[in-house]
Amino acid sequence: ASERKPMMAANWKMNKTVREAEDYVAKLLPRVSDATDEVDVAVFAPFTSLPTVGRMTQDAAVIAGAQNLYFEDSGAYTGEVSAPMLKDVGTGAVIVGHSERREIFGETDETVARKAAKALEAGLVPIVCVGETKEERDAGGMWDKVSGQVRAVMEALDGPSGDAVVFAYEPIWAIGTGETASPEDAQEAIGQIRGLLGELGGEEFAGSVRILYGGSIKPSNAADIMAQDDVDGGLVGGASLEAESFVELVEAAR
Ligand code: G3P
Repeated sequence: ASERKPMMAANWKMNKTVREAEDYVAKLLPRVSDATDEVDVAVFAPFTSLPTVGRMTQDAAVIAGAQNLYFEDSGAYTGEVSAPMLKDVGTGAVIVGHSERREIFGETDETVARKAAKALEAGLVPIVCVGETKEERDAGGMWDKVSGQVRAVMEALDGPSGDAVVFAYEPIWAIGTGETASPEDAQEAIGQIRGLLGELGGEEFAGSVRILYGGSIKPSNAADIMAQDDVDGGLVGGASLEAESFVELVEAAR
C-alpha cells in the first residue's frame, strides 16, 4: 500500500543440491515472469548453487541472493566467501545478520554492520535482518533489541538510498515455529522501524526503503501481512522451499 515496490524473497537456508536448485529455478522463472514488474522476486541459495542460480536468472528479473558474506574482499579467512566472489557469480543481494547467524554462529551487531557496509560497497543489496526473542518480547524489550540492531547498521552505512538496502523484521519467536506474527504485530514493529530509519537516514530514505516481514509466512497468511501499510514484502523460509508455494507468495505480494 505504498509507492515502494514490494519484494518477496525465498530464503532456502541450508537446503537443496545444485540439481534441486536448477529444477526449482527452472520451474519458478516462467511462473513469475509476469509478476516481476510489480514485485521484486529474490532467491537466496546456499553458496554451492549460486553460480547456477546466478546464471539462470541473469536474463530474468529474478534476483539471485546469498545468505551470508564476509566483510573482507580476499585473504586468510578460511571458509569464508567475499562480496566480489558473490558478484562474480551473478549474485545481486545478500542476507545479512539473519537471526540464525546471530544466535548459532555468533554474529554481532558489529559484524552485521560491517557486512552490510561491505555488501553496499560491492553493489550487492543487503537484506538486513533484525528481530527479538520471545523472552525479550515478553520482558518488554523488543524495541530495545530491534532499535539497537537497526542503529548499529545505519551507523556503518554512509547515507544509503532507499533502493540500496532492505531491512527484514523477523521476530525470532515466529521463525520456523508456525507461530506467525499477526498482521498488526508486523505492522507495529515495521512502522516503528520505519520511524527510526527516518530519524537516522532522513524521511526520503525512510519513505523509500523496503522493510520485509519474515517468520512463518505461508500462502494462507501472506496476503493479510502484505496488506499492511508499512510491510513491503516477505522473507520466507519453509514455505519457499517448494517453487509452487513460493509462486503463491509472490502472487500475494502483487
Ligand atoms: O529468513 C526467513 C526465515 O527466517 C523465516 O523462516 O521458515 O519461519 O518462514 P520460516
